Formats: sequence, C-alpha cells, structure tokens
Amino acid sequence: MNICVIGTGYVGLVSGVCFSDKGHYVTCVDIDKEKINNLKNEIIPIYEPGLKELLKKNKDEGRLQFTSNLSDGIAGAEVVLIAVGTPAREDGEADLQYIKAVARSIGENLTDYKVIVTKSTVPVGTGQMIKEIISNTAGHSHFDIASNPEFLREGSAIKDTFQMERAIFGVESERAERILKKLHEPFQTKIVVTNVETAEMTKYAANAFLATKISFINEVANLCEASGADVEKVAEGMGYDHRIGKAFLQAGIGYGGSCFPKDTQALLKIGEKAGYSLKIVPAVESVNKEQRLRLINKLRCAFGKEGLKGKRVAVLGLAFKPNTDDMRAAPSVDLIPLLEREGVEVICYDPVATSKAKEVIESLQSTSTLYGAVKDAEAILILTDWQEFKDMNLEQVKLELKRPIIIDGRNLFDPLKMRDIGFYYDSIGRSV
Ligand code: UGA
Repeated sequence: MNICVIGTGYVGLVSGVCFSDKGHYVTCVDIDKEKINNLKNEIIPIYEPGLKELLKKNKDEGRLQFTSNLSDGIAGAEVVLIAVGTPAREDGEADLQYIKAVARSIGENLTDYKVIVTKSTVPVGTGQMIKEIISNTAGHSHFDIASNPEFLREGSAIKDTFQMERAIFGVESERAERILKKLHEPFQTKIVVTNVETAEMTKYAANAFLATKISFINEVANLCEASGADVEKVAEGMGYDHRIGKAFLQAGIGYGGSCFPKDTQALLKIGEKAGYSLKIVPAVESVNKEQRLRLINKLRCAFGKEGLKGKRVAVLGLAFKPNTDDMRAAPSVDLIPLLEREGVEVICYDPVATSKAKEVIESLQSTSTLYGAVKDAEAILILTDWQEFKDMNLEQVKLELKRPIIIDGRNLFDPLKMRDIGFYYDSIGRSV
C-alpha cells in the first residue's frame, strides 16, 4: 500500500520506518526542512535502538522516502497517518494547533479518496474536528477519518511496533476498516474495531492506567519502608496473579517522559470539559510529584547533621528512562537544580542524554564516563535504570568514591550485597 505519514517525531518516524519494512511504500512528511534533509541523509533526530539501520535499509530498498512538501506526500497515498505532536498547554490541555494546521493542509490538497488516520494522542472529539476542517477546506467529503492510537514505548519502539499487542481502529465506514486491516495485515495482531471517540479514549485510559500502576506500587513502596516490608517481593507476589500482572510494578522515583505526565493532565481536562471530575488520576499525579523528592530526603538522611551543603554528588542517569535521550519530564530536570540550590556540587553521567540534558539544565556539569563522575564524589544518586549502571564494577566504584554512599532511585542492586561490599545503600521500598 502507499501511505503517507505526517510528522517525523517518535511516533511518525518509527511507524513510517516499520510500515515500510513490512512492505508498504511510505512517504514521511514534515514541515521542518532541516529535519527532512537530515533524514534523507540518514541522520535521525532521536536516539532509538535499531531505528537508524532500519531506516537506511528501507530507504535503500526504495520503500521509504522523505519530503517537506505535503502535497507531494499525500498524492497517491491511500492512507494518511497524522502523527504530529500534541504538547500540553500551560493549563494541561492538549495543544491541537499542529493537528489543525495539518488537517487544513490535507484539505487543501485532497483530490481523491483517502483514509485520514490520527495516530497522535488527541482528546476525544478531535477526529470529528479534523473531519470538519478537512471537508470545509477541501469543499467535499470524499474521505474517511479514523483513529488508530499508538502504544509504542520509547527505547523499545521498533520491537513494540513489530510485535504490537493490539491495534485499535476507530472508524466510521466499512471501507476505512477494510483499508486499516490491509495496512496492519503484516503485523498479525489483535484488532479492536470501534468508533473514533472510543479509540481516542482508549489511548488515554491505557496510559492513565499504567501511570496508576506505577504510583500505586510507589505508595506501597513508601509504606514498605515504614513497615519493614520489601516492595520487590510484594510486587512479585502480586504480579503472579494474572489479573494484576507483573508489568509496571517497578517501584522507583516515579514516571517521567513525554506521555504519562502529559496524558494524565490532558485526561483531567477532558473530564473537566465533559463535566466529570476524575478522582484517581489527580492522586496518581500527586504521588508521582512527591516520589522523586523522596530521593533528596534519603540523601539528607545519609549525611545526617552534616547536611548537603558543599557535598559532591554524582548523578547517574539523566534521561527519563534507559535507551533514550529523551529528557522530557525526566526526574533529573527537577532534582539537579534542587540539589544545586542546597549547595551540592552535582556531577552527572548518562550514556546518551548528556547533550540534550544541557539544553534543559543550564548548570549541568557532566563527565563522559561513569567512573569519571563517581571519582571523589561523596555519594551517588541513581536516577535511570541503564544497563550500564546495573553492570558497573561496584568494588571499583567504592574505591573511586570519597564516601561509599549510594541512593538508588531504581532499585538496581541487592541491599544485602551492597551492605556486604560496605556501601551505605538506600533504595525504594526496601530496608537499608
Ligand atoms: C508510554 C506507554 O508505555 C506506551 O504504551 C505509550 O505508547 C507511550 O507512553 C505514549 O503514549 O506514547 P513511554 O513513555 O515511552 O511509553 O515509556 P514507559 O516505558 O511506559 O515508561 C514511562 C515512565 O514510567 C518511565 O519514567 C519509567 O521509568 C516509569 N516506570 C515504568 C516506572 O517507574 N515503573 C514501571 O514499572 C514502569
């Protein structure tokens, strides 16, 4: 099939590359000319394992191309996927300006029948708005709209797309349903067919539920700390129950990233507009906000009366999660300035996110190696669960440190083992 993907951010680029790898002919469109030129030269704007190689392969084999001209991009495409950003506005509501602009451009260039599919995460009702804009601009209704929300995760985006667990088709006609099924045929996944509004809601409900699982286990972790229980074992014991499941019960410093914080906020706004005020989601957000601050309290406890002023602390992990350089809503963005305000000298290390981190944390001091960061530090704070940190040579780290203190926001190590090596080790929801 010929498809056009508008927007080359995470969702658009990964979808475009993966659909082309499954044999479809894909044109990716973006108004950012520099981005398009870079993509033509196989320079990708994000760090995502395997993406560059797959992009090159499909480009070389002639199934994937890039353009900044929307009219060229949609000409000949049977399906147009909208995958532009819907960032949060100041008040938390999703900002639909890019969606509206794309809908207008599609309308201006729509000459034959196409299915216009929204992949971006958009509030319920956006599909209808897109339909109105396109038919007003095009002057005809020879198209169908559809919603096909995306569920891929950063860091494992390609695997998540190739092995998608389900595809949701929010459609208004059998023709659109047939076309979406053909598009997804190579993925052999479970398909849920519904109306556009339900598909839009499914995405928010899924993300809010995952965020709820994280905040829930973090509350349990905090309770474990106060009562001598071990959250890792609690999560394991809960997770064997298939009704609960093991996934997303990893206690830590809470969720970050471009999705959960934004989508929970947007869901609250959707509720407000619909005249229903959600009760669980605000609690999820509030637990998440507090959770990251607990790490600083743990550091304070480690130094006791000495206080934090003047201490040199190594921060390991800047990105919001491993295998990405995405800094959006990363705990490090809150915690590093807070530490600095308390007079701490912070030295950071992240395997890939340092240069992006410098754009958001002006004062950032960094090293190019893990051992460089820990050298002469008086404590380590672990903020991201990178494999490189799990694999670090703890004996060597202990030798490099001025004081053997590790405050671990991701529960990477066994507390007993850490005590045996001689560390002061505090983590989340487990006894020191
Ligand atoms: C999330 C969803 O998992 C995807 O299904 C969805 O498509 C995506 O948002 C989106 O809406 O675009 P993502 O934000 O890439 O994906 O990352 P996750 O792996 O879900 O992690 C989110 C945050 O939760 C991270 O900060 C991670 O450290 C944290 N987390 C995750 C925990 O603290 N504990 C866990 O058990 C799992």
